[in-house]
Amino acid sequence: SDLDGFIAGLPKAELHLHIEGSLQPEMMFALARRNRIAIPFDSVEQLRAAYTFSRLQDFLDIYYQGADVLRTEEDFHDLALAYFDRAAADTVVHAEIFFDPQTHTARGIPFGVVAEGLLAGMREAEARHGLTSKLILCFLRHLSEDDALATLREAEPWLEQITGVGLDSSELGHPPSKFRRVFTAAGERGLKRVAHAGEEGPPAYVIEALDLLHIDRLDHGNRSLEDEALTRRLAETGMTLTVCPLSNLKLCVVRDLGTHPIARMLQLGLRATVNSDDPAYFGGYINDNYRAVAPLLTRADLAALARNSFEGSFLDQNQIALRV
Ligand code: HPA
Ligand code: ZN
Repeated sequence: SDLDGFIAGLPKAELHLHIEGSLQPEMMFALARRNRIAIPFDSVEQLRAAYTFSRLQDFLDIYYQGADVLRTEEDFHDLALAYFDRAAADTVVHAEIFFDPQTHTARGIPFGVVAEGLLAGMREAEARHGLTSKLILCFLRHLSEDDALATLREAEPWLEQITGVGLDSSELGHPPSKFRRVFTAAGERGLKRVAHAGEEGPPAYVIEALDLLHIDRLDHGNRSLEDEALTRRLAETGMTLTVCPLSNLKLCVVRDLGTHPIARMLQLGLRATVNSDDPAYFGGYINDNYRAVAPLLTRADLAALARNSFEGSFLDQNQIALRV
C-alpha cells in the first residue's frame, strides 16, 4: 500500500539488533550441515513452530540453543552479511549491532573468531550497499560480573573496532547494579554504554542503568512509563529508547499491538526508535516493525521515529547529515 511505500522509503538506522537473533532457520540448518552438527529439529517448519514464547526466558532458551551452529569465522561473516543484505532491502543505511561473545567463548569459540567474522561482514556490507555499521559487545546478565570483566579483557585487542558495551539476557533478578564495575571499566576505555532495562524489569532497573551504569542509550525501556518522574527525566535528558514492537508482542511485554506504548512515548516527548531485536525469532525485520505500529501513528510520527534513529545513533553530527 501507499503507507508501506512511505515506510519503505524512509532512510533509517537500526539500533537494537542482536546478530545471533538474525539467524534464520534455513541458515541454522545450512550451518549445521556445513559444520556436521546435529540439531534437535527435523525441519525448518518444525523449528519455526517452536518459536512461541510467553516470556523473555522462553525465547532465550531457544536463542542460545540456536547459536550452537555458529562455529567458524565464515559462519559469523555469513550471518552478519545475510542480516545486512536484508536490512539494506528495508532502507536501513546504518546499523549498530549487538553480539553476545560469552555465548560463544563458553563453547570454546575464541573471541577473535566471532569478532573477525562479524567485522568482515560489516566491511563487505559497506562495500556492497553503502550500509555503515558499528559493533556493541553485550554482557550476559545471567552470568557473573567477573565473567563480564574477563570478557572485556579478552576483547582488548579489538576495542578500537568496538563502539560500546551493552547488557542483555534474563533481566529479572539481574539488576544493572550487578555490572557497575565492568561498565565503569568500559567507560574508562572510551566505550559507549547501553543496557536493556525495563523490558520485564521494573522502573528501578532503568534508574540503576542511568545512575550506576551511566548509559548513553536505553534498550526497550517500556516499563519506564510506570514512573512519571523517570519518564520526565528521560524526556528532559533526550535519552534514546530502542523500542521493539514485534519483540514486545512475541514476548508478551504488551498484550496486543493496539496497546503498544510507542504513540504515548512520542506524545510524552521521549526519543523513541523502532527496531527488530531478533528478527528471525520475532517474525519481522525493521519495516515489519514500523508497519506493526503504523496504525497508532501519523506519518509525521513515523518520520520522527526514523529521524530519532539517527539522532540516537553513535554517528557524529556530520556523519548523520551524510547518511539521512
Ligand atoms: N532481551 C534480553 N536479552 C536479549 C534480547 C532481549 O530482547 N534479545 C536477545 N537477547
Ligand atoms: Zn534486545
